[in-house]
Amino acid sequence: MQIIERIDPLRRALEEPRRSGKGIALVPTMGALHEGHLALIDRAHERAQTVVMSLFVNPLQFGPNEDFARYPRDRDGDARLAASRGADILFVPQPDELYRAGRTVSVVPGALATRWDGASRPGHFTGVLTVVAKLFNIVQPDVAVFGQKDIQQATLIHAMVRDLDFPIRMIVAPIVREHDGVALSSRNAYLSAPDRKHARVLSRAIFAMREAFDGGETSAAALERLGGAVVAAEPEVTLEYLAVMHAETLEPAPAAAAGSIVAIAARVGTTRLIDNIILGAPDPAG
Ligand code: PAF
Repeated sequence: MQIIERIDPLRRALEEPRRSGKGIALVPTMGALHEGHLALIDRAHERAQTVVMSLFVNPLQFGPNEDFARYPRDRDGDARLAASRGADILFVPQPDELYRAGRTVSVVPGALATRWDGASRPGHFTGVLTVVAKLFNIVQPDVAVFGQKDIQQATLIHAMVRDLDFPIRMIVAPIVREHDGVALSSRNAYLSAPDRKHARVLSRAIFAMREAFDGGETSAAALERLGGAVVAAEPEVTLEYLAVMHAETLEPAPAAAAGSIVAIAARVGTTRLIDNIILGAPDPAG
């Protein structure tokens, strides 16, 4: 695996794979890699011979009171993991390589970006779309792979690909879970041992809603009441949102149907966690 820090050498390294026509896939990450990220490399290799993983803690997508400074960083450990899973190139730019002095242009998403996670993280999705658009332009992949755990992010990137005509096929890979149902997340590293236990309530709530849906309940209000009661039984966890959403628009759905999304965000101690499931779809480890 080549480790490349600058844009020009990365572009040069991609000339031959691009000429070969065997496909280039991009897996954008902020590092602190776990099995969820590594599974994205597997999905990328199903579609392309050359897999570029980027590792960049993007300052633009963190609010002033968020965890940019303490976000877990382990470049050497990440490089070992990415290489062991078969990434061909690890792109690890410094902030000034991506954001040069005088930068004035951003990619600003539409109204969906102000809902759900966007409501408590103003500007977050502008930061995400701006860095992803830059990575798309730098790597020019045929395929880009993202995780379902950040479903609002995936939905907005999908809209950007469509609306800005990026010639890229986007793959959204299923959530990878711990044995007890907790979705893998780099931010799980912040959880104390008791909070790690409390964190189980997020997946418990959405699994309970899925079970009720599978049993015939389609009222979103009834499903949300049910999931809300599961969360309320864990007083250390503060619910931010728990909702049944339309699959493509992520608008609140009055009735659940196969393909609807059930998504949750909650604070466990000081850590904000998110999770989701797609109703009527198998959840590999759920
Ligand atoms: O999901 C993430 O890790 C980040 O939001 C992404 C897509 C790499 C952009 O910084």
